Amino acid sequence: MFKRLRAFNDCCTPLSLIKGLRMSSSLSATLPAVLEKRRPQQSPETDYSTLSNYKAFQVQHSNLNLEISFEKQTISGVVHYNLHNVANASQILLDTSFLEVSDVSIDGSKVDFKVEPRREPLGSRLVVHSPDGTLPSTFKLSCSFETTQKCTALQWLQGHQTSGKPYVFSQLEAIHARSLFPCFDSPSVKSTFSANVTSPLPTVFSGILKSQEETETSSELKTYHFEQDVPIPTYLIGIASGDLQAADVGPRSKVYTEPFRLQDAQWEFDGDVEKFIQTAEKIIFPYEWGTYDILINPNSYPYGGMESPNMTFATPTLIAHDKSNVDVIAHELAHSWSGNLVTNCSWDHFWLNEGWTVYLERRIMGALHGEAARHFSALIGWNDLGNSIDSMKNPDRFSKLVQNLQDGTDPDEAFSTVPYEKGSTFLLYLETLLGGKQAFDPFIKHYFKKFQRQSLDTWQFFDTLFEFYADKRDLLEGVDWEKWFFTPGLPPKPELITTLADDVYALAEKWILKAQTSRNKKDFESSFAADDVKDFNSNQIVLLLDSLVQGVPATKAHQKSAFRWSENPTAAHALLAIYVDRTVNSRNAEVVFRTFRFEISARLTESYGKLAEWLGTVGRMKFVRPGYRLLNSVDRDLAVTTFEELKDMYHPICKALVKQDLGL
Ligand code: BES
Ligand code: ZN
Repeated sequence: MFKRLRAFNDCCTPLSLIKGLRMSSSLSATLPAVLEKRRPQQSPETDYSTLSNYKAFQVQHSNLNLEISFEKQTISGVVHYNLHNVANASQILLDTSFLEVSDVSIDGSKVDFKVEPRREPLGSRLVVHSPDGTLPSTFKLSCSFETTQKCTALQWLQGHQTSGKPYVFSQLEAIHARSLFPCFDSPSVKSTFSANVTSPLPTVFSGILKSQEETETSSELKTYHFEQDVPIPTYLIGIASGDLQAADVGPRSKVYTEPFRLQDAQWEFDGDVEKFIQTAEKIIFPYEWGTYDILINPNSYPYGGMESPNMTFATPTLIAHDKSNVDVIAHELAHSWSGNLVTNCSWDHFWLNEGWTVYLERRIMGALHGEAARHFSALIGWNDLGNSIDSMKNPDRFSKLVQNLQDGTDPDEAFSTVPYEKGSTFLLYLETLLGGKQAFDPFIKHYFKKFQRQSLDTWQFFDTLFEFYADKRDLLEGVDWEKWFFTPGLPPKPELITTLADDVYALAEKWILKAQTSRNKKDFESSFAADDVKDFNSNQIVLLLDSLVQGVPATKAHQKSAFRWSENPTAAHALLAIYVDRTVNSRNAEVVFRTFRFEISARLTESYGKLAEWLGTVGRMKFVRPGYRLLNSVDRDLAVTTFEELKDMYHPICKALVKQDLGL
């Protein structure tokens, strides 16, 4: 009854049929009018963050042959694509960015090509013409290339930045793959990959290692052969090479890292990884990638984690010595379904990758630690979302769940907490609305099965949701779709179980009230004790420190005048002394960072140098950027000299952003 047949219209070209594009005219459940009136011409929508003509081809297989040179700090090689010319195109347009392209051939014969002038931020288009103006229906395209010093995809480290040997790692999401090799750099394009990588040092890749052998030319060099049999988009390619060793952390999992960290890394992840995989398999369906390994990169790795298939790349800040950061692994693992199997078709629909992944990450952690823990994480996420929107330079544009990057805006510029937290909050809301986990879980399985190995947009998500819950349409009609998906700012506040947060808020409030009235160290010692926080997990410590810094009891959040710890450093000192083991002595980077923020807010001058020192040991942008901003707010000279001294340790993207943040 809710289905209607919409007439086919003229725009339905053969191309759309071949490629499985859904034109707005095909058969589907009608969405509520507010959504129908926004429905685009075709689904999946076009990706505007690529300069390639990706729609004209199907990539049947990609083969990368790479050589890593630590002396030159370049990766050079040849990429071969087996292409199916679905639109009878006569030219091939590929993405490149700061790449040197030396040769292009079609079916083994060299052809002319040109690299167009660079267009920021998307790069330089590689144009390949066929010699006679036509291209076969299937053919092999080969491009020889070399990276340059301006490459944004790689960070090269020298021995003094690692445990002694050189190291290189890639970070390609969202649009940096084009800076490593010429490609159709769109999440809409998926192919299987094989890779042969030659390097003097152990090498890992986003696929399964099949063999490794010494090269004929030199016994110093080895060629590593990898296969990725599940079709993936280019942004998921990951490659790293350095003094890497591996240790088992589960029956299908190893951790790779430099030898000096191997034991700590193994201890941190051992056992949990397999629990996460099995929990996710129950919620969704079996893990399809074979192995699941983790690479712990050197300190300068700019993200928490990156979901390269078979080989999650991660920051060493996950090693907290108490397994308290493993939720990041649950997150990257969850991407094995959301993002890696079922992929956003363009960065406008990034919430389909990250919102779903945060939702699944919390389902995994909730299955293992209980529903209260799940809701507690969601609450922290909700607070992060508010803070993130508040501090946005352009919230009207970037706090909408569905983005619009049609004008060629850099997806890195649009990146924020919004797709993560607004997205996952929406899915939790939907779960509750539809009747809880038992009602929602069949949809999870259906959605991931239906779209596996494909790339989709939000409209296909909507259509599938309305089709699946045809019998609950009245509930879905009640959702404020416009607000959730197309309106800036906070969505409706979720109803969350606050048991774990309530204890934290009560303790923060008690401290703030006491600090407002007493300056006597003994007074604090008789009112508080280390035991106050002994049962807190590290997320609760994080919330405690955040609440203290805010200086307003959560129950009186409307109160205007916040307490400033700088007015009572005695109280701040007392607090840190009483909870020393859970704050100052913590090795959890999330806690360490919040402790610094608390100390800086209290203007405890002795902490400034310690923060500067810490900034020399972390490269994760989540900490480095706000860390410099904090230091800058109390001691600009120290912030600037610290940055000048350390800047070449950071990833090029991190370095550029901090420079901008400090106004240098
Ligand atoms: N895919 C992202 C990382 C990413 C996104 C890199 C966009 C570049 C552009 C990854 O899965 C991620 O979200 N990492 C988070 C950790 C997570 C627990 C929220 C991070 O790095 O902090
Ligand atoms: Zn993610």
